[in-house]
Amino acid sequence: MKYGYFDDTKKEYVITTPDTPLPWINYLGGQDFYGLISNTLGGYSFYRDAKLQRLTRFRYNNVPSDMGGRYYYIKEENKDPWNPGYLPCRAELDKYVCRHGLGYTVIESEKNNIECLIKCFVPLDENCEIHSLTLTNNSMIQKNIKLYSMIEWCLWDAVDDSQNYQRNLNIGEVEVEDGVIYHKTEYRERRNHYAYYGVNHDISGFETDRDSFLGKFRGFDNPLSVEKGHMNNSIAHGWYPIGSHQIDCLLEPGESKNLIFLLGYGQNSPDNKWAGKNIINKEEAKRVLNKFKSQEFVLKELEKLKHYWNKLLSKFQVETSNDKVARMVNIWNQYQCMVTFNLSRSASYFESGTGRGMGFRDSCQDILGFVHLIPEKARERILDIASIQFEDGSTYHQYQPLTKLGNNNIGSGFNDDPLWLIACTVAYIKETGDSHILNETIPFDNKLGSEKSLFEHLRRSIHYTLSHLGPNGLPLIGRADWNDCLNLNTFSTEPGESFQTTANYESNIAESVFIAGMFIKYGQEYAELCSRFGDHNEGKEIIYQVKRMKEAVYNKGWDGKWFLRAYDAFGNKVGSNECHEGKIYIEPQGMCVMAGIGIENGHAEKALNSVHQLLVNDYGVELLHPSYTSYHKELGEITSYPPGYKENGSVFCHNNPWISIAETILGRGNKAFDIYRRICPSYTEEFSEIHKTEPYVYSQTIGGRESFSLGEAKNSWLTGTAAWSFVNISQAILGIYPDYDGLKIKPCLPDEIKSYKVRRYFRGSFYNIEVENLMFGKTKSKISKE
Ligand code: GLC
Ligand code: GLC
Repeated sequence: MKYGYFDDTKKEYVITTPDTPLPWINYLGGQDFYGLISNTLGGYSFYRDAKLQRLTRFRYNNVPSDMGGRYYYIKEENKDPWNPGYLPCRAELDKYVCRHGLGYTVIESEKNNIECLIKCFVPLDENCEIHSLTLTNNSMIQKNIKLYSMIEWCLWDAVDDSQNYQRNLNIGEVEVEDGVIYHKTEYRERRNHYAYYGVNHDISGFETDRDSFLGKFRGFDNPLSVEKGHMNNSIAHGWYPIGSHQIDCLLEPGESKNLIFLLGYGQNSPDNKWAGKNIINKEEAKRVLNKFKSQEFVLKELEKLKHYWNKLLSKFQVETSNDKVARMVNIWNQYQCMVTFNLSRSASYFESGTGRGMGFRDSCQDILGFVHLIPEKARERILDIASIQFEDGSTYHQYQPLTKLGNNNIGSGFNDDPLWLIACTVAYIKETGDSHILNETIPFDNKLGSEKSLFEHLRRSIHYTLSHLGPNGLPLIGRADWNDCLNLNTFSTEPGESFQTTANYESNIAESVFIAGMFIKYGQEYAELCSRFGDHNEGKEIIYQVKRMKEAVYNKGWDGKWFLRAYDAFGNKVGSNECHEGKIYIEPQGMCVMAGIGIENGHAEKALNSVHQLLVNDYGVELLHPSYTSYHKELGEITSYPPGYKENGSVFCHNNPWISIAETILGRGNKAFDIYRRICPSYTEEFSEIHKTEPYVYSQTIGGRESFSLGEAKNSWLTGTAAWSFVNISQAILGIYPDYDGLKIKPCLPDEIKSYKVRRYFRGSFYNIEVENLMFGKTKSKISKE
């Protein structure tokens, strides 16, 4: 069952009912100001950091769900109020369409012959969110409408805001000037920023105190002020500051009225923050409000935003008769990659915006998906990431986007981390040809005076693995590898203890076959970097080490029908047919074959056949099988999840593309595409009632066969699946590989794709590539430069 459809021409997903299985969201903004916006206008806005500088409130745990947003109430005398986005009043609408586009969301709805069209976006280069709202009287009689706006201010630090009531219920402060509501909590002391909410129209009343607006014992679904049609012009002192305007509109039959609401963030220098005693200097807010006061201008800015996205995505466009592939490649997959660039794993409807910063491995992998779109930003990101590495080549697991410093609370010692830095640096140089990046000097752990070249950082990455080998000659796993939940040195028995930072048992024995695969894959890449741009002897040495590692995998990492996953702290096998549960894991099958291991001796083919036999379900490839049914402290968090969920045997989408890419290495185009298709949102759209998350973006996890919700996805939007899926479809399947000396064309197609054209930007020029599928693994291609 579908709840909408793709409008490819407009690059939109059109949702035709507010009653989607979960809120289906979109992101506004791409620089400093962001908004999460659902198909019922729920969500919140923040400036740069969803934890520290949150502008509006949202309640993750709320009943009913999706509470907090940009709410507009439309009220006529003797009629119940309604909202254009259905929530919070839940009044049935006569018409409802929500269009999520690239950086904007539009809702068109109608009730009682009043039509409301609301367009929400964050304009390029300004720190504000625009809600352009047009009311039209479609009846034959004059309509006297009262329109109410409503947002709830968050007192900046989202964690403190949800905990520290003894202080926070005293500190809320606002100002109202010319109908604009200013939120200035803590501005009197150390903050030099404020938020504001205005409209380009005279208002007939306002509320800034939540209790005054809602009335006692009422929720957002029936505010007293709206019911009475009268605002108290309340000024919040402490308690719960909000922003709400009342606007009276008299509409003749057929008449329309446009109103521009603007939610903004303003910042002043400390010595210029006041206009008078405790009065904010509002110049910045006034400048922005004034700029966006006409509808013509606002619409132009929205067009500018669309143009920006069209231009950006034009860097890779495919023409194919398979429109499910086309819309993912051309629009949604690239868009999702950009969102992961902007927000990493911080703020979604599943990530609270208060927990995670930028993961070292996450951010390195995200780069693989957006490097062709914004190579300058990728460059900056690589250098930021490398700066949290330690001198021995290991690294913090995470850094804070605001400070760019490593976060010690999340710990270190994830032994796959350093190798991902090679993955993204190589991808960057292949895309841009800019090998100078290798000579950029950057510190270790951001310590002044410790600066060394990026090349040296990479050298330490690779040697970190080599200096941390276990008894079988395989890399030690440390806290965990890619699978954060396979914690072989943790041995946690305390409820609530973090599996990733607790170290009760340093075995120096637990080894990872997955990291061995990574070492072989990225070791070869690093050796090539050395031979092209650096020290040849170093390159040769690493090729020798890669060979040795391969032998170790053949001797100690092969289980007979698939690659083993690991050895635990006692030297016991993990992911072996000998195991009672967790006999086979996906990660080493994908990574080892991607590294080219087992091609020569048939292991690769056997491993992938085992994947098909044991791990593939209708909705994707499961992470392991069979799932663990009880907790094992020697395996860690993975066994803390109920069977079939998350790392314990769900379809963990991130590594599905690895299997698909691995299939292309064996030249099995049909199998590769089959894996691609299973988790692809434009395919899962057909059964959205089962899948539940948005049909235009990837989710992190989908319930496995052993779960109670086979096929049900969770954790949409912020996942490495976006980047790897784009690598998979654009490179491995459609075969357009950026390489040091140019674009390399090497498709591996399923029978169902007969031909296609790609227009791709590469190092200053556009190339047109035409591919024809001659079947049986053969293709014919033509490439021309524009
Ligand atoms: C989450 C993490 C990622 C990790 C994966 C598997 O997606 O963000 O770093 O690799 O889980 O545990
Ligand atoms: C949880 C998740 C995992 C994530 C880790 C670190 O354990 O299951 O996916 O990587 O937390 O945040």
